[in-house]
Amino acid sequence: MYANGTTTEADVELAAVRFVCELFARNRHLSEGAAIREAPGEVLDAIRERGVPAQGRPLDEVVLEMERDVIGYGYNADHARFLGFVPGPTTALSWLGDVIAAGYNRHAGSFANYPAGCVAEEGVLSWFCERAGLPAGASGGLFVSGGSMANLTALAAARDAVLGEGDWERGVAYVSEQTHSSATKGLHVIGVPRDHVRVVPCDDAFRMDVAALERAVAADEAAGLRPIVAVATAGTTNTGSVDPLREVARVCRAHGLWMHVDGAFGASVLLTRHRGMLDGVELAVFDNV
Ligand SMILES: Cc1ncc(COP(=O)(O)O)c(C=O)c1O
Repeated sequence: MYANGTTTEADVELAAVRFVCELFARNRHLSEGAAIREAPGEVLDAIRERGVPAQGRPLDEVVLEMERDVIGYGYNADHARFLGFVPGPTTALSWLGDVIAAGYNRHAGSFANYPAGCVAEEGVLSWFCERAGLPAGASGGLFVSGGSMANLTALAAARDAVLGEGDWERGVAYVSEQTHSSATKGLHVIGVPRDHVRVVPCDDAFRMDVAALERAVAADEAAGLRPIVAVATAGTTNTGSVDPLREVARVCRAHGLWMHVDGAFGASVLLTRHRGMLDGVELAVFDNV
């Protein structure tokens, strides 16, 4: 604060950081209150009516309002008894990385822009590759904003690896009944027609039926189509089931298609002593076409 009482930028930053720290200190994210709180209509109406503020307001007031009227409603996935679906809870430190990244807002669009950041990214990617048991030399990749973007990116890579540009309409992709919807959405975005996406049935443990996958691939090949990718999942969203990765890889290898493993929910198991659950994930390499 300046001597004349004016608030400085640093005051604002400190107040915002203090706000988040206090939230954690009160353990609000873990166990306070209900895990799900419906927002009363009048709260939402007040937010709508406020619109985009034309006038600045004291930060404390805004922060309190934020806590009371905005963050306080909806699903609190951080709550100790919130078992509804998969978003991971925050930890006491995980938010700090986001604060630093947003605060500095380094542009990482090229190596020259942000050399040390790129080197750090490469290092973490190599570490992930090694944890997944991928062959030496498999260290490429990039961090994306989440599972949907990861699926989209990998599926585009699969299409480009298998099909020439004039040949896209022959491409066929395989998902299972339990595959996350973002994979099918990604296939649509990259131009795979909806009637070229095969939904392979699952067994009674919600794992892809690999015999059915192989039959579908063979039928498409016989029809003159070109199988491009089978999407296996390491931890399906609904049940946590893991597709038989080794078997899916065998089919992909035999028929020359890309094996994509969606690990958005379950791949973190590679960092634990249960990593054997993902046996076969290391076969998701594209050396067969
Ligand atoms: C298996 C799986 N794949 C992809 C996604 C999509 O991830 P995101 O919401 O980060 O885009 C999810 C989200 O729950 C998921 O469980």
